[in-house]
Amino acid sequence: MRFALKGLWTLVICVVSIPVLAQEQIIPITTAENAMVLKVDQQKNLSILYYGRKLGNNNEYALIPQAYKQTSDYTEVADAAYTASGSRNLLEPAITVTHADGNNSLDLRYVQHEQKDLGSGVSQLSILLKDPVYHFQVTLFYKSYFKQDVIEQWAVIRHAEKSNVTLHKYASANLHIKAKSFWLTQYHGDWAKEMQSETSRLTHGIKTLDSKLGTRANLFQPSVFMVSLDQPATEDEGTVLYGALEYSGNFKTDLELDYQNNLRIISGINSYASAYTLKPNEDFVTPGFLYTLSHEGKGSASRKLQDWARNFKVLDGKKDRLTLLNNWEATYFDFDESKLKELIKDTRKLGVDLFLLDDGWFANKYPRNGDVAGLGDWEPNKKKLPNGIGTLVKEAANNQVKFGIWIEPEMINPKSELYEQHPDWVVKQPQRAEHYFRNQLVLDLSNPKVQDFVFKVVDDLFTQNGELAYIKWDCNAVIYNAHSAYLKNQSHFYIEYMRGLYNVLKRIRSKYPTVPMMLCSGGGGRVDYGALEYFTEFWPSDNTDPLERIFMQWEYSYFYPAITSANHVTDWGKQPIKFRTDVAMMGKLGFDIVVKHLSEKDLQYCQNAIKQYNSFKDIVWFGKQYRLANPTEGDIASMAYINEEKSKGVIFNYLVNNRYGTGSIYPVRLKGLEPTARYKITEICLYPGTKTSIDESQTYSGEFLMTIGFNPVVHAQRTSVVLNIEKI
Ligand code: DGJ
Repeated sequence: MRFALKGLWTLVICVVSIPVLAQEQIIPITTAENAMVLKVDQQKNLSILYYGRKLGNNNEYALIPQAYKQTSDYTEVADAAYTASGSRNLLEPAITVTHADGNNSLDLRYVQHEQKDLGSGVSQLSILLKDPVYHFQVTLFYKSYFKQDVIEQWAVIRHAEKSNVTLHKYASANLHIKAKSFWLTQYHGDWAKEMQSETSRLTHGIKTLDSKLGTRANLFQPSVFMVSLDQPATEDEGTVLYGALEYSGNFKTDLELDYQNNLRIISGINSYASAYTLKPNEDFVTPGFLYTLSHEGKGSASRKLQDWARNFKVLDGKKDRLTLLNNWEATYFDFDESKLKELIKDTRKLGVDLFLLDDGWFANKYPRNGDVAGLGDWEPNKKKLPNGIGTLVKEAANNQVKFGIWIEPEMINPKSELYEQHPDWVVKQPQRAEHYFRNQLVLDLSNPKVQDFVFKVVDDLFTQNGELAYIKWDCNAVIYNAHSAYLKNQSHFYIEYMRGLYNVLKRIRSKYPTVPMMLCSGGGGRVDYGALEYFTEFWPSDNTDPLERIFMQWEYSYFYPAITSANHVTDWGKQPIKFRTDVAMMGKLGFDIVVKHLSEKDLQYCQNAIKQYNSFKDIVWFGKQYRLANPTEGDIASMAYINEEKSKGVIFNYLVNNRYGTGSIYPVRLKGLEPTARYKITEICLYPGTKTSIDESQTYSGEFLMTIGFNPVVHAQRTSVVLNIEKI
């Protein structure tokens, strides 16, 4: 699951080992602003000495503990870098095991560490820990990204005992942080209500963020979170840590405010129903736990993470993307070849790059004419598409657009030929009634034959339709009745399912390395950096009401760059086409509308907006994102994207409250500009026949715009205003 490095950036990472006392060592991992400082004491305990703003003099880290007068650590492992259980520890552990002889104790002591410079500002530290009594070891990995202040941490667990060891818990990492108070921002949701945020002060005890849903693991709770230190961070002020598990399956993050008032964050795969039997000399590799720390508020943390994601994680994060017309909401399941050919023509007429054929194109014995049948039978439906997919791909090429297709290859309807032929490929309890999520079940990806089948679904589409240019990979069901007919050990099911999924994605990517793929999950039920290594973008939510999307996209943007957010213009909501299109332009633009239902002016608006979008999309995708006016705090939302050179940007402004007299009463303060440069602001994406209300002849210093601000003149008659800002 590790990945190749991209980019040319080459600052030297500093990971050095400093002997302090005779046998004490300090190991600081420093990035641009921060230091994660580990300490090996004389007894070879490895602890987290400090995580925070870095000091100029590495020798001073050793002085930190004496500055704190907290109560005693009776165990000497409360600040452990990876907390073992069953020996001295009294707090939430990172790892719990039963050894081959039935003993439950584990003690991990430092043996050695190694540091590698991986180039491009990336460094990797590995630290080997061993149990002095058992042949059991854990290697901790810290991959640090200097410029972005990001650390990815994971563990490799291994033993050489006489027979199997049971892992009851196997976290990726645990952190240990000191502050006067801790404020957790977490997310929850459901279908069409993704990324609802809540912030509260952490009290003593353990707060758990977790998922047991198996597949679309984020449906109720995503694994991303923020912790503000000392006080709730604002957009531009305060110290805040962002955390995320790079994993698409069940996860668990415990935030434990301990008796000493320190915060311990333990994050990893959820070991719920998943005790893992580890064979001698087998490596158990945990997924990465990702974190960054900012001292300039949430905005700066998000820009660090976005920069990291584009440079190092998201597939082709620095490359181009395709705008598209999707037919899901235009047709649902009701289409045939001639209707699709019309839509392909509309794709060209609209001016986007690709036509995306959604659900409903497949299955014959049990045709996919609704969501009750057909999943699993991936041959084109002969009635709807007598000439197959190939003819549509050609039709697209004739219209100078590309063609993409929807699949949901992990899933199966009981009403399908696949189910009749391979009931043993289905996740279900042999002695219990089936329970459905959207009338469907999940295929058992722990089974290599099922992995081959899923790979073949994708491979066949490409081999049979050479110019296929895009895949939308959906995943609508959670896992009920978790049971595999293939696995001998059912406790391995959730883990093996994810390994199976990643195996398939790896195979797809080794054969089709660059084809864009959208990560979709009946909305935004599966959005994480484990999956985004294989996908170019994600579907944030089926809720495309632009008013809702302003809030949702705002929250997603703290963790994911705009280039990964597939935003489609649909008929959801009551907003005019301009508002809908403008909101969708704050990411990767797509449409899911009936083009021929658009009025002449609406169509003209969309066509022009797409042209405008093509001229500024690079700034939205690769520039720096600044949140200017928070929709949860006032009547307007304002979001800016400014290029690296600070010479050009685009600012989106919306009215989010329709009460009488609401609007941009105060100027919006801009960010990310050069104070001494002069800028000109013009309004773009105007609806045909309308004029701007701003004075475009005026020029402003960056200082003025960032100190006083600019009024986009948003009100009930101008609910969506897009501004272009350019250095003169
Ligand atoms: C759920 C997705 O989120 C939608 O965009 C659409 O593709 C449907 N599935 C199709 O069944």
